[in-house]
Amino acid sequence: MSLKTLAAALLLAALPAFGQTSDDTLYRQLGGQDGLVRLMDDFMQRLLADRRMQPFFKDVNQQHVKEQLVAQFCEVSGGPCKLNGPDMKRVHENLDIARADFNALVEVLQLAMDAQGIPFGAQNRLLAQLAPMHRDIVNVK
Ligand code: HEM
Repeated sequence: MSLKTLAAALLLAALPAFGQTSDDTLYRQLGGQDGLVRLMDDFMQRLLADRRMQPFFKDVNQQHVKEQLVAQFCEVSGGPCKLNGPDMKRVHENLDIARADFNALVEVLQLAMDAQGIPFGAQNRLLAQLAPMHRDIVNVK
């Protein structure tokens, strides 16, 4: 085998690794697709049972919101998904969401993640991805 052929063979062998652009560790710690579906089912139940969150979620298309959240959490955790939907500012713009509401939702999400046995470090890494979104979501004082 010539040096050129060898170099080409090595490059081809390495291609799948190049294609893997993102680290999916967090996605796997969240339980992958099945884990995220379970997490969102439980999260939505908890949102509806929480007197602070219930007014926001009781009349929405809960199935749709869960599916969008699964896609979004999959994407931000390095999984093989892309959220297709309006941006976070548009989704939440008519909802009058205060910082306290945002914090309450995060608290409920933490309880849901605990219930799924998601490791604390993974929870924190996910929350670190979501936290900056408050700038687009919180829209009242
Ligand atoms: C990091 C925090 C949050 C994230 C990542 C998030 C993400 C999302 C996503 C992906 C959707 C579905 C959008 C679509 O239909 O395509 C959604 C919808 C919704 N979110 Fe959030 N959200 C967050 C915080 C909040 C907070 C704090 C509230 C209120 C307390 C809230 C209330 C809602 C409601 C009511 C909908 C349904 C809107 C509708 O269908 O009319 N969200 N959110």
